[in-house]
Amino acid sequence: MSSPPWWQRGAVYQVYPRSFADGDGDGVGDLRGLRAHLDHLADLGVTAVWLSPVFTSPMVDAGYDVADFCDVDPVFGTLEDLDGLIADCHARGIRVVLDWVPNHSSDQHPWFLASRSSRDDPRRDWYVWRDSAPDGGPPNDWRSEFAAAGPAWSYDEHTGQWYLHSYTPQQPDLNWDNPEVEAAMHDVVRFWLDRGVDGLRIDALQRLGKDPLLRSNAGSDRRHDQDWEPVAHERLRGIRRVVDEYQDRMIVGEVYLLDQRRVVDYLSGGDQLHMAHNFVFLHLPWDAAAFRHVIAEFEALAEPDAWPAWFLGNHDHSRIATRYDDGGSGQARARAVALMLTALRGTPFLYQGDELGLPDAEIPPGRVVDVDGRDPGRAPLPWRPPSLAGPGAGFTTGEPWLPLVREAEQLCVESQAADPCSTLSLVRRLGELRAESAALRSGDQHLLDAGPDVLAWLRTGPGERLLAAVNFATEPRPLIVPGIPGARHAVLVSTDPERTGTAVQDGTGPRARFVLQPSEAVLLELVPHARPT
Ligand code: GLC
Repeated sequence: MSSPPWWQRGAVYQVYPRSFADGDGDGVGDLRGLRAHLDHLADLGVTAVWLSPVFTSPMVDAGYDVADFCDVDPVFGTLEDLDGLIADCHARGIRVVLDWVPNHSSDQHPWFLASRSSRDDPRRDWYVWRDSAPDGGPPNDWRSEFAAAGPAWSYDEHTGQWYLHSYTPQQPDLNWDNPEVEAAMHDVVRFWLDRGVDGLRIDALQRLGKDPLLRSNAGSDRRHDQDWEPVAHERLRGIRRVVDEYQDRMIVGEVYLLDQRRVVDYLSGGDQLHMAHNFVFLHLPWDAAAFRHVIAEFEALAEPDAWPAWFLGNHDHSRIATRYDDGGSGQARARAVALMLTALRGTPFLYQGDELGLPDAEIPPGRVVDVDGRDPGRAPLPWRPPSLAGPGAGFTTGEPWLPLVREAEQLCVESQAADPCSTLSLVRRLGELRAESAALRSGDQHLLDAGPDVLAWLRTGPGERLLAAVNFATEPRPLIVPGIPGARHAVLVSTDPERTGTAVQDGTGPRARFVLQPSEAVLLELVPHARPT
């Protein structure tokens, strides 16, 4: 088996810089804080870190409203700090992926300030400006992604036209129909790749392709404000050509489309994305059959070389331990998810705090920051027990910008690192297992019929045969795998802290004696019968 590219080997860890670690006591995480905690990433064995935006921004959308694509916001530090971070990461063998926001800028970006200054400004056509509809309203029926923002158009009194914003009014959409815009954004990509960045996460990629005629969505069987063919794919291919000017770089796209047929299109041909974030997977109910269906469907739809990016959490969603809690199973299911993502064919993406099984934080009405209700999943990471480190829990010496989770005392990094049965210890072990196993990294995958409520699959590579299984039920379930009669196995890892012993045992076959505990996930090594125990 040839060595896979770096982005296929281990997990990619998403840092949400505002909430990772605060190095200067202002209550907001920053690059200095992140640089001081790189041991944590190394201990998890992650291959790469993906940073949510750290660029100059008025922070209307927490940095996804960029006012300078090629500089760092003072709240996070300086460009030199970012260079230093890249060097520190590389020294530890960790790759750096930045978040690139090509669909829109901040309304404070000099391009937009110029564009809105006059209809004759040379930058006017860098954004999407239109006259009112005949009834005096917005040019079409497109809506902002954020319900609270309403229409995707805002009227500019000064020049008497509307401008398009797929998100907040402070995030005007760039006009990718204008080749100058495309060239300028390509130069942003080169700016960061020249600085040694290893990859980019492309924000809101599906939005780069819009119906050039700007027709309304109503009465159409498809959306006109996103995922428009062929322009979406032509633009992506143009981006990929820029990325391919460099050695060994990677692009992963946020392709927020809830239809896997549409998602795999962004992976096809070998000249588009390396990986696509798959939101069909993220929105699944906690149900073995549903997970099985989506994994099988992806494998069936995607080209054989297409590489999945499996993830169940990011900064836009309720945390795994809360979303799947269902009366108290959240912690166990968060552990099962960690094993599942490690053992599926593809690259696991971890959102900071997933390794601690963090739940959502409670945000009192007076502390709400986000326009779209996403604060609970963005609470700062607890590093140390508040009883020792004070209310900032080692995240900050100041007042944290959002409240921390109530469970910081038990769930913080320091408490969990001291407990071999903690979620953190489990996730570190999973990182080691993936590093040790070619079958996990790049082996073949075969989904099994494993009985009700159990998702099970085989991963095989030269000399290795691994079986992963997740019990989605809240009661014990036997692990029945008819294709593997009476298999002998060793437990490599279990998410159930009560399961002890890794000795070789008999029986995952049709009359299994192996019983999965409630919400337990396991990784078993199947042992050839000939081998003595
Ligand atoms: C993406 C980001 C989200 C942001 C939006 C607009 O969906 O993940 O946080 O609000 O794009 O940039």
